Amino acid sequence: MAYDTIITGGTVFTANGPKKVDVGIKGQKIAAVRKGLVTNGSSTKGGRSTAKVVDATGQYVIPGGLDVHVHLELPFCGTVSSDDFDSGTKAAARGGVTSVIDFAIPYGKESMATAYDNWRMKADPKTCIDYCFHMAITKWDLHGPEMAKMVQKGCPTFKEFMIYESEGWQSDDRAIFGALENCKKLGAMLLIHAESSRVLDELIDRHHTKALMKKYGAQLHGITRPNYIEAEAIQRAVKWAEVTGGTLYIVHMSTADGADIIKEARKKKIPVHAETCAQYLVLDDSLFATKDGHLYACCPQIKKKSDQKRLWQGLKQDDVCVVSTDTCSFTREQKAMWKGDWTKIPMGMPGLETLLPIVYTHGVLKKRLTMQQFVEKCCTNPAKVMGLYPKKGVIAPGSDADIAIFDPKKRIKVDHAKMETNTDWSPFQGWSLAGFARNTFSRGAMIVDDYKFCGKNGWGKWMPRKSAGKL
Ligand code: URP
Ligand code: ZN
Ligand code: ZN
Repeated sequence: MAYDTIITGGTVFTANGPKKVDVGIKGQKIAAVRKGLVTNGSSTKGGRSTAKVVDATGQYVIPGGLDVHVHLELPFCGTVSSDDFDSGTKAAARGGVTSVIDFAIPYGKESMATAYDNWRMKADPKTCIDYCFHMAITKWDLHGPEMAKMVQKGCPTFKEFMIYESEGWQSDDRAIFGALENCKKLGAMLLIHAESSRVLDELIDRHHTKALMKKYGAQLHGITRPNYIEAEAIQRAVKWAEVTGGTLYIVHMSTADGADIIKEARKKKIPVHAETCAQYLVLDDSLFATKDGHLYACCPQIKKKSDQKRLWQGLKQDDVCVVSTDTCSFTREQKAMWKGDWTKIPMGMPGLETLLPIVYTHGVLKKRLTMQQFVEKCCTNPAKVMGLYPKKGVIAPGSDADIAIFDPKKRIKVDHAKMETNTDWSPFQGWSLAGFARNTFSRGAMIVDDYKFCGKNGWGKWMPRKSAGKL
């Protein structure tokens, strides 16, 4: 077989563990994963190989990561998130991420089909890696009947928010119950932002005084969201999954309490999965007391060190199946809209470019995860649970040639000024991280070379899916 590219000399993380093999790429697909492709398998022209040979000696070769939770160019909190499908997907590529899933959100009385069209218009011309959307259900009576049509369009994952009444996005229990019933019928999956809105609103009201804001500033973001706000909401959603049999996926789970609930639910065979995000694994709420504390406001907020510990353990024990980022970037100027009132901070952080480096450096190098678990949580499981496997998430013949190559030892100091991410700050500024991609391949095309993005806008393809929810 005449390969277009052969990656040779590296340690390849296959579904059966690490192997010293070559990876042969033909067109946009992986064509072979075995030893000796350079000497035996590549075609020759005048005695010379026609394949481009990429030397990965001393490097790890992994399936490209999937960040299944991003918000690019999202109108939110009175502004628009600063990473769009251009900067966001370039950032992703530099971090070894080769697929993203954004959330298409209907505005006002729009249908989900209109939201889908709006998001395709934003994404199609700009996107540098493959992508698709979860469809947000914001008006149950309008969107519930549309679910089957959206699955036929290739979108079998839906999202409901238990908060964000002021954005017009909030779903109540009736909507969650109904959406789970539909998911069961359609082979689809419901993603839930789980926070208990009535009690949260009450706590916010009680603390929303000039005196407390002066005294506590951004710390009020954490003070008003104790762990039970997330735990009660997860517990309730899990009950609806249990009685309907619909598959539930808790997004951006941030608490130890949540991980405990998921563990118990899974023991009872309730169809529920949970994702956490890189920031909940490595940042804690002591940051809110610092000078730039408001920059770190995301929703749900970063919690305590004890929560981090339980989430790492949850990843190891499979209570938590995916790490994503919930990327929703804002610049310092946008964050400054808060003017001392924590309820006005645009909530969200950048993360796509640092997802794999954070989980690798703080997970694998700190011996919290094995390399195989790292690949599982950042590449394979996200592909499986979102209905993209084995097209994505695995290095195997027939899969898309989405591959990241990184030096397991080389550390790079995070500096927002040198990154593709469109922000003028980073939650990880100055951190020394290993795991940045030396090379990234997207469907066979090299889009990162020597740590620099070299792909092109519009290369990313829409990924239709049939069903979701199976690991
Ligand atoms: O802070 C965040 N997470 N912003 C994006 C919206 C959401 O809830 O995911
Ligand atoms: Zn959310
Ligand atoms: Zn989100």
